[in-house]
Amino acid sequence: MPEVAGRSHLERIVPLYRLALEEAAVTPADLAAVAVTNRPGLVGCLLVGVSVAKTLALVQGIPLLGIDHLQAHVDAAFLAAPELRLPLVSLVASGGHTGLYRVDERARAYRMGRTLDDAAGEALDKAAAMLGLGYPGGPAIEEAARNGDARAADFPRGRRDSLDFSFSGLKTSLLYRLRGPGVVRPMPELSDDEKADLAASFQEAVFETLVRKLSRAAEDANARTVAIGGGVARNARLRQLVAEDAVLAARDLVFPPPALCSDNAAMIAGLGGYELQRGRRDSLDLEVFARSAT
Ligand code: KG4
Ligand code: ZN
Repeated sequence: MPEVAGRSHLERIVPLYRLALEEAAVTPADLAAVAVTNRPGLVGCLLVGVSVAKTLALVQGIPLLGIDHLQAHVDAAFLAAPELRLPLVSLVASGGHTGLYRVDERARAYRMGRTLDDAAGEALDKAAAMLGLGYPGGPAIEEAARNGDARAADFPRGRRDSLDFSFSGLKTSLLYRLRGPGVVRPMPELSDDEKADLAASFQEAVFETLVRKLSRAAEDANARTVAIGGGVARNARLRQLVAEDAVLAARDLVFPPPALCSDNAAMIAGLGGYELQRGRRDSLDLEVFARSAT
């Protein structure tokens, strides 16, 4: 699959670049710099973007900036609220990553906790697959959960003592509830009501865990502002639970618009623009890395 993903990037990147310029109504000569994700991710995919960015920088004679994708998810809060007060604590929950970050200085997020196994979005995607709700699972579960009872099923909330997350136990708990432990049996046929109740209960367990740890992190860091980001942060129920938490509600809350939560290039450009102003430049030797630097 990494091979397929790399090839897909290769096929799409030039048409996408042209479309971006067209939609922004600019020509390459208008560009002041080029920012590109160089970590974390599949190196084959990152290499495609970085190669194109280097070519553009070289041909146009403009600065090149390599951006950490997770740093950019955190930075989406500054695009939504440029005057936000520091320190900021941010929860980034997506399909590939779930982490808590503390920011004392923009573009310098420090990781306070992370998932030890599945990301929150991945847990929702897997649960949706088990419930036959389709992909991507997060929005499918949100939709199904609207008609469900979040207290219908009791799912584990995980460890309380750490800022790290673990969602694999929760996923197994849903699997056992559906077809029992041990021997492999086919998934049962569920009614729409049963699906709705399980979706609502599962989603609640994921979100209560996220909010509880975000709340603790905000306290530990004495945060003046709290933000959420990543695809999972699109979820209205998660936003509601964050706003209802007493510790979190006492701070400034930043919920970036959904388009800045899901993977997007605006957050890469936003952080790149900020780094450019501060004088950062990368050389044409810029490398790619599978892991985040934060
Ligand atoms: O940040 P993102 O667009 O891509 C990365 O994974 O980096 O996040 C995608 C994840 C998927 O797991 C998807 O199911 C989840 O975000 N997601 C949601 C919602 N929309 C997308 N999860 C919960 N509620 C949503 N409305
Ligand atoms: Zn992402």
